[in-house]
Amino acid sequence: MVGRAVFFGIARMAMLGNLMTQAAWTASPPEPPLGLPPVPWPADNPYSAERVELGRYLFFDPRLSANGMVSCATCHPPDHAFAGGDPAPVGITGKPLRRRVPTVINRAYGRSQFYDGRSPTLEAQITFPISDRNEMGNTPQAAAQAISKIAGYRPLFERAFGDPQVTFDRITKAIATFERTILSGNSPYDRFVNGDKNALSPQAKRGQQIFERTGECSECHNGFNFTNEKFAGLGIGPDQQPPDFGLAGITGKRRDEGKFKVPTLREVAHTAPYMHDSRFKTLDDVLEFYRKGGQPSRHLDSRIAPFFLDAQAKADLRAFLESLSGEGWQQIKPPEKLRQ
Ligand code: HEC
Ligand code: HEC
Repeated sequence: MVGRAVFFGIARMAMLGNLMTQAAWTASPPEPPLGLPPVPWPADNPYSAERVELGRYLFFDPRLSANGMVSCATCHPPDHAFAGGDPAPVGITGKPLRRRVPTVINRAYGRSQFYDGRSPTLEAQITFPISDRNEMGNTPQAAAQAISKIAGYRPLFERAFGDPQVTFDRITKAIATFERTILSGNSPYDRFVNGDKNALSPQAKRGQQIFERTGECSECHNGFNFTNEKFAGLGIGPDQQPPDFGLAGITGKRRDEGKFKVPTLREVAHTAPYMHDSRFKTLDDVLEFYRKGGQPSRHLDSRIAPFFLDAQAKADLRAFLESLSGEGWQQIKPPEKLRQ
């Protein structure tokens, strides 16, 4: 526990990086919370506390959008575990978006970004919301120009990149670096797996059995982040009006029709509503869906089938999912005020 307090202390101090001398904090990234492997830092955008700090300002800055009203955090609010709570999310035009807003937590480990995996990296992902006419409605050039006009950003760019020049590439690098520090681990589940036999309640332990055996949830939701990083069909999407074919929209392949990225289940108790179209309000709704064997469809994965789940077993399974709520993101707060 002491080690953990020190870790969060350091993380918090790193956030206040401008009070610190540069050299002290650039060296090595903070250790991720229990249960998570080291964050894979790309060679062309290594960790630096100064980039985290710049990225935090940018993530919360609505001036990246065309009308100056919508920031990344507008849709990915930190107090809703960096996921959208609104079943019909909107951006600058007020027109409902096609899909719900997934969490940014633990995206550092994702093999691809978006429900259809259309972005390979966090850096590349950022161009999409900034350029999408309904989300932030801007262009990379105009976004970089807006930021370059704000004098208060100059020292932050200088510390993060060696000189005060603002480019869109630098903006994406800083935001991606910040995102790689938004983590969740050290949950009751992680403490249990690491030897604290009392960290999980008896109910959650029963739920784990269902998750791994009867329900076969770990066929897809497996590994430290509870996702195999692959795409699968639950029958959800092709049944929407208009239909959303997920991965096939990117690959053009028939066999990818109706497949969506298997999401992490970490913090799932805090990221309602569920599924890419927000169709379920509660975890119980999701469990009822799986109990019945998913949405009947030719796009349904063969690993999804009805299974026994009475009220007691459902509560057990829910308790297990709730035990995946941890820490590593709650300490991240919006800047007290925007740079001027
Ligand atoms: C208007 C709302 C909105 C804004 C603004 C927005 N996002 Fe998103 N974000 C979404 C939606 C919706 C998705 C899912 C879209 C999809 O998968 O097709 C998403 C997906 C993502 C993902 C991928 C998550 C995953 O599970 O694959 C990341 C990372 C992300 N956003 C980061 C950002 C960043 C950084 C910004 C600011 C530059 C931003 N978002 C601005 C709505 C928004
Ligand atoms: C064949 C692979 C597969 C299996 C097996 C599977 N899931 Fe999923 N799960 C997915 C995919 C894909 C999604 C995302 C679908 C979407 O967004 O439309 C998902 C979404 C979820 C969500 C919603 C997460 C969110 O953020 O929206 C929960 C909760 C969930 N699954 C729990 C379970 C449980 C519990 C089981 C076992 C009963 C299970 N899953 C079995 C592939 C699978």
